[in-house]
Amino acid sequence: MNQDELKQAVARAALDYVVEGKIVGVGTGSTARLFIDALAEIKDRIAGAVASSEDTRRRLEGHGIRVFDLNDVAELPVYIDGADEINAEMHMIKGGGGALTREKIVAAVAQKFICIVDGSKYVEVMGKFPLPVEVIPMARAHVARELTRLGGTPVLRAGFITDNGNLILDVKGLQILDPVDLETRINQIVGVVSNGLFARRPADVCLLGTDSGVCTLTGD
Ligand code: A5P
Repeated sequence: MNQDELKQAVARAALDYVVEGKIVGVGTGSTARLFIDALAEIKDRIAGAVASSEDTRRRLEGHGIRVFDLNDVAELPVYIDGADEINAEMHMIKGGGGALTREKIVAAVAQKFICIVDGSKYVEVMGKFPLPVEVIPMARAHVARELTRLGGTPVLRAGFITDNGNLILDVKGLQILDPVDLETRINQIVGVVSNGLFARRPADVCLLGTDSGVCTLTGD
């Protein structure tokens, strides 16, 4: 199977985690887009969705799926999203699509995070994929200096503005041996909105697309 077919397989497998009659949190990116297309087939069995980006909101609405404001939602049983890297502890790097902050907010509200990825995303040590950091524009240079002090090489994502009106610094050259600690440290830099490490709130389940089928992984 090629990468797209593996993404398609995990996107469909994620339908088993959608709770009938409830609202589902929906991530961003190419795998999440395939999930949205699959979700459309069972849209009459859910109350609606919460979107983690404007792109996702538009695609959900395009399929006639009702999109709720997160502030109007008291309960979110499940959030389904892709990742750029995931390890055995279910820690992730996310934000390749630039939606990391809203993704992190929706994930924080959800009771369960289901990560859907093809096998190429599963890594032993994270950091090969540049770590996205969302930054308030006036703090760009300050945050870049601080990230350099942490051992990375921050590169401004050219021509990109997040849904929140901010910038993204993609941090190259990190070997992330303690994801929880690094997530916390980066969050403490003044001017950082959020960073793409999802370690403090890891995934609960990873649906990993492989040539021998979809594997279900948990951190336990
Ligand atoms: C979006 O901001 C990201 O967090 C995506 O979830 C991540 O980049 C994975 O995207 P793909 O499914 O396109 O690989």
